[in-house]
Amino acid sequence: MAMKKIVVLGSTGSIGINVLKVVERFPQQFSVVALSALNNTDLLARQIRQFKPRYAAIDAKHICDLRRKISGSKVSLFDTRSEIDHLASLPQADIVVLGIEGSAALSPFLAAIRSGKHIAPANKEALVMAGSVLMAEAKKYKASIVPVDSEQSAIFQCLQGQDRQGLKRVYLTASGGPLRCVSRDQLKRVSVADVLKHPRWRMGRKITVDSATLMNKGLEVIEAMWLFDLAASHIEVLIHPESIIHSMVEFQDGAVMAQLGVTDMRIPIQYALTYPKRSVAPLPAMDFIRQKTLTFLKPDVKKFPALKLCYDVAKKGKTFGSVLNAANEEAVSAFLREKIPFLKVAEIAEKVVAKHRPSSSVTLKSILNADAWAREEARGLISR
Ligand SMILES: NC(=O)c1ccc[n+]([C@@H]2O[C@H](COP(=O)([O-])OP(=O)(O)OC[C@H]3O[C@@H](n4cnc5c(N)ncnc54)[C@H](OP(=O)(O)O)[C@@H]3O)[C@@H](O)[C@H]2O)c1
Repeated sequence: MAMKKIVVLGSTGSIGINVLKVVERFPQQFSVVALSALNNTDLLARQIRQFKPRYAAIDAKHICDLRRKISGSKVSLFDTRSEIDHLASLPQADIVVLGIEGSAALSPFLAAIRSGKHIAPANKEALVMAGSVLMAEAKKYKASIVPVDSEQSAIFQCLQGQDRQGLKRVYLTASGGPLRCVSRDQLKRVSVADVLKHPRWRMGRKITVDSATLMNKGLEVIEAMWLFDLAASHIEVLIHPESIIHSMVEFQDGAVMAQLGVTDMRIPIQYALTYPKRSVAPLPAMDFIRQKTLTFLKPDVKKFPALKLCYDVAKKGKTFGSVLNAANEEAVSAFLREKIPFLKVAEIAEKVVAKHRPSSSVTLKSILNADAWAREEARGLISR
């Protein structure tokens, strides 16, 4: 296999760290050409020393500090906020991994697409905001997209070699998050610490809050619509607390294909990097005898209204995805700063979505305008 050059955007996050663990195992197959972070200079400096990328990016205010920490390195440094698109479109790069959190991934996603890269997105917010633009551009520029998000990777894998006409439905599985067994009344009082205790996955703070509200699963419904060209009515969410089945696809003949395995993000990450090949992974095999049972439950949309809100937004289309995402990002950030209680997160997203009057055409400009409008609205509700 020819050596592939990889750009890892968001290399200091939960996804980025796991990507580099995978890359480290295949020194003959992958070399790192660029890394990016926003604030974490210590970890980025260690990664630069270990992986020796040609380029790296950090927020401009940390560049001097980072340079001091990597003295002697030949890496060229860039400002993440203004120059990340440059890293996403480097001519020498083959694969771009999007491990950036939130709407900041949209611009480098588009830049990687327009450079015709092989893209491995973990980030879902960009697709929720601008799925129609991203997928149309990917087609135009012949960029390939192999998702890293474990549920989307499962669907992608189940669809390999299948006749799309025979597809009936997709089941997106969800662990149910850390608050699945907490009553609606108790939800009024849950703290940031309670929410950040995820039962199955170790992830960044924003996605962990999204998992607790079930917004994460709703965002994945919209993400799957764009990635696999599906209607929301063909996507069903199942609570599956063991998180062994990562998602399933049902066909017209009644056959259901599921992708199963231990809960470790290195599996979908490795698949996205080595696709269409599979390589040995240093992980324990799935032990079905020990596992014994797999359970499935209907999501409680009364307790977790964010999931229903996402379905409504999926059906409305236009710039509603951008509005939902922006309002949710603002509300999650306010919850993490202890400015609003947990239940307000979904409530704020719902209120902002209800107020949105979309323009008739969906362009990058109208998407970004909707994002800016929704943030203002959400901030107004937060400060009230
Ligand atoms: N974690 C998972 O298991 C998982 C699974 C599926 C999907 N995802 C998705 O993957 C994305 C990343 O999740 P995560 O859990 O890895 O998040 P995370 O741990 O918070 O890491 C985020 C990364 O993005 C960087 N970053 C933050 N804000 C940025 C900005 N404005 N511009 C550029 N870079 C920025 C961070 O840099 P600093 O470290 O310097 O702040 C960090 O490297 C999310 O969209 C999430 O929904 C994650």
